[in-house]
Amino acid sequence: MNGQNAACEQVPPAGSAGWLAELAFTPRKESWVASSADRFYKIFRRSDDPLRDWLDPACMEKAGREYVDTLLLRGLSEHVCTPLRLDHACVVYPRLSGPDLRPMLQQQHGAGGARHRAHALRKAMVVLAQLHRARTNPAGYPVKDYLHDGYLVPDAEVARRIGERERTLFIGGFEVRNFRYDEERGDWFFFDPQHVYLGMPEDDVARFVISLLMINWGQGGGVTLWQGFDVENLLAAYEDAAGFLLDGTLLTYFLRETIAMRRHFAEKALCNMAGARRVIGRPYLASYFMQLNHWAANHEF
Ligand SMILES: Nc1ncnc2c1ncn2[C@@H]1O[C@H](COP(=O)(O)OP(=O)(O)OP(=O)(O)O)[C@@H](O)[C@H]1O
Ligand SMILES: [Mg+2]
Repeated sequence: MNGQNAACEQVPPAGSAGWLAELAFTPRKESWVASSADRFYKIFRRSDDPLRDWLDPACMEKAGREYVDTLLLRGLSEHVCTPLRLDHACVVYPRLSGPDLRPMLQQQHGAGGARHRAHALRKAMVVLAQLHRARTNPAGYPVKDYLHDGYLVPDAEVARRIGERERTLFIGGFEVRNFRYDEERGDWFFFDPQHVYLGMPEDDVARFVISLLMINWGQGGGVTLWQGFDVENLLAAYEDAAGFLLDGTLLTYFLRETIAMRRHFAEKALCNMAGARRVIGRPYLASYFMQLNHWAANHEF
């Protein structure tokens, strides 16, 4: 990690926000983002003012964590977007030209499109396998408690397998929306790891697969699952790169657990919607999750 730190940019003097004020930050739910010609800036968000959040201790804590986590993950895979510097609550990255993986997958049609999609998804699986190769816990990541913190209760067989399985890193943000292409380097990069734990590799794989099925989820999205991928090919790409086999029983369990988790948050979001949107949203949610459950019932590993 020291070598990478040495390559990072110099941090400007503490408290000098001049360079930030020149950037046009766009608000997102949890962050402010801005781009310059070759840099991408992300400030963690708690208020309606990026400069205030830049100096907010809670935002600085989150930015510090993302900075450390991404540097550590970058040590495991060169396809993790390397942070260049941390300045208060702002993490600075090289700007990736795009596109993001999610819209690319949605837009690519025809035979060439299928090839592009398969290539990008194989790459994502290789990156995940590389991140799972860590055999130590250098940052002291907490162990994910699957018996108490999941969205389903594992049966005795699943609990036994979880207990016996060698743990890998679990990267909460490893979803389709957190990949972006860079023209200059001609490759895909992963960003935004969110919470990192020690967990089960099948948990990460299941979350990625469900994030693919749900590419069209939400307002303005589709009413059917997105199925422009071959799940067997994805799993084979992962296993080839990881050098170990996935546990089919655990994968089946985590696919269902991820669906239960997504449903939990979807219902919570629905409850917070205003009247008309809630009325339209309820049957949409019910139909969508029925399709997900159906898909999972037809995919036992
Ligand atoms: N290095 C980069 N260069 C250019 N654009 C980027 C870069 N990293 C991220 N982006 C773009 O900014 C968006 C938001 O980034 P990021 O996911 O880190 O923020 P976030 O607030 O955590 O978002 P979310 O909670 O939706 O995942 C990405 O979806 C992507 O389109
Ligand atoms: Mg993100």
